[in-house]
Amino acid sequence: MQKAKLAILASGRGSNAVALIQASKSADFPAEVALVLSDNRDAPVLKKAEELGVKALYLDPGPKRSYLIPEVEASWIQALQENDVDYVLLAGFMRLLKRTFLEAFPLRVLNIHPALLPSFRGLDAQQQAWEYGVRYSGATVHFVDSSLDAGPIILQEPVKVLPDDTPQSLADRILEAEHRIYPEAVRLLCQGRLRIEGRRVKILREWNSKEAHGK
Ligand code: GRF
Repeated sequence: MQKAKLAILASGRGSNAVALIQASKSADFPAEVALVLSDNRDAPVLKKAEELGVKALYLDPGPKRSYLIPEVEASWIQALQENDVDYVLLAGFMRLLKRTFLEAFPLRVLNIHPALLPSFRGLDAQQQAWEYGVRYSGATVHFVDSSLDAGPIILQEPVKVLPDDTPQSLADRILEAEHRIYPEAVRLLCQGRLRIEGRRVKILREWNSKEAHGK
């Protein structure tokens, strides 16, 4: 079967992008990473993706700090469509996507968040969890909708908070969990094995060729 085409949108370090690109290189992975886009010219993710043989582009994010204005959003959508992208994966992308973007890729945009949603949305989720004193935090992969860190949840992995943890050591272990569950969620998605029922995402046992990455 033909592989789905993925784009990764990232603003910084790019460790999740690297995990996704590496997973996609295995022969039985149902998708390939066609493109990495960044709103940050200096983002390490651009170089890392190129070193792994993936096309990586900086795109002008326009005048606003936390989102793309409509004209800019249109140019990002165009870049994705020109590269025949089926699914968009946010991996440390520091801007909210608006409805026009999400409507161009309905139920085809995923995000990774470093906490067990719906707890600790927003920035510095690992620090928020550590300060709150939870015994477990973790990582979540979810569909993106127009509210912050709130779409239907695909996979989560809990991470125990240890007595000697600092926010950084907790974040490091959460990151390891992120690198496990993000490729796994993408695999399920591209195999057509995710069915959204309200807020709940059902994981089908069998590969579903009818739902697998048709346009
Ligand atoms: C990750 O912790 C991710 O969950 C959050 O931003 C961070 C990005 O890290 N959304 P990296 O750029 O993938 O290394």
